[in-house]
Formats: sequence, structure tokens, C-alpha cells
Amino acid sequence: MNTADFIPNNFNFSIEKASYKWQTPSNIALVKYWGKSNPQIPKNASISFTLNNCHTITSIDFEKKDSEGIEFEIYFEGNKKEEFKPKITTFFERILEYCPYISAYKMFINSENSFPHSSGIASSASGMSAIAMCLLSLEKELNPNISEDFVKRKASFLARLGSGSASRSIEGPLVVWGEHPEIPESSNLYGVQFPFEVAPIFKEYQDTILLVDKGEKQVSSTVGHNLMFDHPYAENRFKQANDNLNKLSKILQEGAIKDFITLVESEALTLHAMMLTSQPYFILMKPNTLKVINEIWEYRAATGSNICFTLDAGANVHVLYPKNEKDTVQSFIEEKLSQYCQNNQFINDYAGLGGTKI
Ligand code: PMV
Repeated sequence: MNTADFIPNNFNFSIEKASYKWQTPSNIALVKYWGKSNPQIPKNASISFTLNNCHTITSIDFEKKDSEGIEFEIYFEGNKKEEFKPKITTFFERILEYCPYISAYKMFINSENSFPHSSGIASSASGMSAIAMCLLSLEKELNPNISEDFVKRKASFLARLGSGSASRSIEGPLVVWGEHPEIPESSNLYGVQFPFEVAPIFKEYQDTILLVDKGEKQVSSTVGHNLMFDHPYAENRFKQANDNLNKLSKILQEGAIKDFITLVESEALTLHAMMLTSQPYFILMKPNTLKVINEIWEYRAATGSNICFTLDAGANVHVLYPKNEKDTVQSFIEEKLSQYCQNNQFINDYAGLGGTKI
């Protein structure tokens, strides 16, 4: 599908009022997206586990209005949030061509996250995908002929225009975003489910997020992506990521867990290596991030566990492990790793199935 396929032409505008509520998750990339061109086109393909417990719940009430133009109010956890308006306005302006109906309604948006507010967990993926699903629920009612597959695809397409990684938060448990020769149907415009059968060890994969640093990031991901222009290692990095996705695809199908660990940890460190070697350079890891990584390596060497880590664009550590190691790894996290978390806080999560209508 291409961009023009998402421009609608057939609506029944008889609906005066409507209300939809969606719960959509965050996701954690295994092969990372870092670097893009306009409009939100990734420089390489990426793949992520969709999470389950870290999610946003958003409702949108639509009320028909006479005036033209984008009009909305936004509430977050019960409070009106004027400061969220510019980002959402930019998003609505960007998608207006694909969702002309949003200018026919006043929108009242109510949103809440399952994870603590400033936990350092990026809420843009779950937040943008939840808004996208609410819009698609309205679109489906205005034009009942669109298929469920189209709904998911377009929701991912819209979410991507809000935040690139949000394109991977509509479905689960594994989603690829970005054109890749080995992944049929893959696209730069939206995420698609990983199309191959995955080995049992990778089913319901566990992710415990260690809240190492809950502060505001010093460098936003928008700035970070832009620093990949003129980055001395950019071209090799984009090629490496696409090669890694090819390798990971086979690893997931074959159940090659040791290779999974090596590839996923290398991807996390490479993402941060890009930050360390940008101009200007920056560091998002904290001393406790490195302490956790070393603890994980020691534990793995001592016990033969299949535990490993990955990192987002921040200091928090995602501890990944198969479901059959849940009890032992949980004890290790409580006894050893929680001391490196702010207020000993961590969130247990696992690979889930994507958004649900409430
Ligand atoms: O979606 P953005 O623009 O916030 O970028 C996210 C980038 C990473 O989280 C670091 C990697 C990824 O693929 O999710």
C-alpha cells in the first residue's frame, strides 16, 4: 500500500456524537530504529516486542461542529493539559489529509498511563497509537466498508506520523516497521506483524523494566534521530541494523536463544554508541545502568541463565528472559537488581497482543 491509499473518499457524516476508548501498549525494540528522513521514514527496519502491562488508555468523545478546523481539549489523568496541545496539534495537522473528518468534530481526549508518570518510560508509542485507534474507530463508523486489516494498517500509519516507534504499538507480539527484503509486506509507512512462526522459547517473552532513572531525558529522541544526519557511522549502522533483522528473523524461528542474547545486547549498546559518537555527543546511560549490565553478565556466567538486557533511549534497563525462567529471574531481580532502581521500582511485563477496545 502507498500513502494515497490512506486518503479516504467515502463518508456518511450523519453521526452527530461518538465516543471510543482504546488501550494500547508500549513496545521495546530488539533491532533499533535510530535515524529517519521526512515524513517519519525510518533509515532502517526495526522489530519490537509489543508490551502488555505498560499501556495507555485513551478515550475520545467526538461532537459534530459547524466550524471548520481542528478543535480539541486534552486531559491527562483527570487534569486539563494545555502543555500537551502543541504536539497533538502538530500531529492532527499532519494527519488531516488522511483523516479529514477530524475537522468536522470537536474532540475531547482523556488519557492515562498504566506506568508511573515520570518513570522514564516513553509514553509516545502507547499514547499516539491509542489516539490513532480511536480515530480509526470513528472512521470505521463513518465508512463501515473498510476492513479490520485496513483499520490496523491505517492506525499504524497514523501512529507513525505521531512517533515513529508508535507504528509498532497496534499489534503484537512482534512487529516489524521498515521495508526489509526478507520480511514480506514490510513497509516504511506502517508496522506489520512478524510473519513467521516463532519458536516456543520466544512466546510470551518476559520484560522487566528497571526504573534506573525516572528523570526527564537530557536529549529527546527527535534530536537524537537528527544527529544521525552527518553521523560518521550512520550508513554502516543502517546496513548493520537491516542485517541484524535478517539474522534475528532466523533466530526467532529457530529458537537460537544464545544468538538472540548476543544480537539483542549488541543492538542496545550500538544504539548508545551512536549517541556517544554524535556531534554533539551525549550519554543517556547512568552509572546504575552499567552496574545492572555487569550484574546481568555475572549472573548469566554463573548460572547459565538466558537472561539478557536491552535499552531504550534512556537509562532504564529492560531485562529480557524466557517465561520458563520467570521465578528464578524474578528472585535475582528482587535480591540484586532492584537496589539499582530509583525507590527499588521495576515493572514486570511481557510480550502482548497489541491494542484492545474498551
Ligand atoms: O519513536 P521515537 O521517535 O521516540 O524513537 C524511538 C527510538 C528508540 O526507542 C530508541 C528505538 C526504537 O526502535 O524504538
